[in-house]
Amino acid sequence: MKKRVIAGILAAGMALSLAACGGSSSGSSSEASGSSSSAGTSSASTAEAAVSGVSSSSGTAVSGDMKLVEDGKLHMATNASFPPYESTTDNGGFEGIDIDIATKIADDLGLELVVDDMEFSSVITSVQSGKSDIAMAGMTVKEERKKNLDFTDSYATGVQSVIVPEDSDIKSIDDLKGKKIGCQEGTTGYIYASDTEENGGFGEENVTAYADGGTAVNAMMQGKVDAVIIDNEPAKAYVAANKGLKILDTSYVEEEYAIGIAKDNKGLYDAVNNEIKKLKEDGTIQSIIDKYIKA
Ligand code: ARG
Repeated sequence: MKKRVIAGILAAGMALSLAACGGSSSGSSSEASGSSSSAGTSSASTAEAAVSGVSSSSGTAVSGDMKLVEDGKLHMATNASFPPYESTTDNGGFEGIDIDIATKIADDLGLELVVDDMEFSSVITSVQSGKSDIAMAGMTVKEERKKNLDFTDSYATGVQSVIVPEDSDIKSIDDLKGKKIGCQEGTTGYIYASDTEENGGFGEENVTAYADGGTAVNAMMQGKVDAVIIDNEPAKAYVAANKGLKILDTSYVEEEYAIGIAKDNKGLYDAVNNEIKKLKEDGTIQSIIDKYIKA
């Protein structure tokens, strides 16, 4: 029976493409919430510039009309509290796998990357409403989200993970029943965990949504929740940054990360998706991942 429940949870998890809460090792992401920043510019015009036939720095002409929030710039909506995909640096900049990949894409398209840091739950709407050009935030491709944005080919995978205090009596996913769980608001981890038991979740009343993964982990360290469900790379970053935590050695569910683009922006979609294909093929993406995630 116990086995069955776990299998059921995993099956439901896969169906839901479940997984994760975001994480921050700095815990100060709310400070940067909603702010726009980029190296070399502080302007963040919301004027929409229609760019036709932009040619990339590598000489490839980009066909089709690509709409950009701001002429010459690529605005990336993200939540920079999700190491090693995106986090803030001490000097107010941004770093991580997504930042490096997006910088490369922008470069190739002859654009300057601008990072629009916001709450994870605002990332999709920001692109949908034309405030940012791309949604890139370790974002899992999910059927529900495909209704709002078009997703490029996947550039990375994530897996669901459970962080608990080292001395916790929670040893398996099954043990999470009736426990207090912390997640990052709007993430697949929250969607999954807050679902009903028959759907493989633990019930909304048992799950608390925090603004970011760092806040969720802090809440667990203060005893407010018993476990945090979060994507496994951010989970590793948290466990490394905080004493007394561990990641449950339990079955993981894989998710695909991709870039989301507004449905009425086929030109930009094609340009970015071609870039993803190219950067996967020539090994650029793998080398960026290897830079941040040591095997
Ligand atoms: N992969 C999960 C999702 O798409 C969590 C992403 C959180 N990302 C972030 N930058 N905080 O829901």
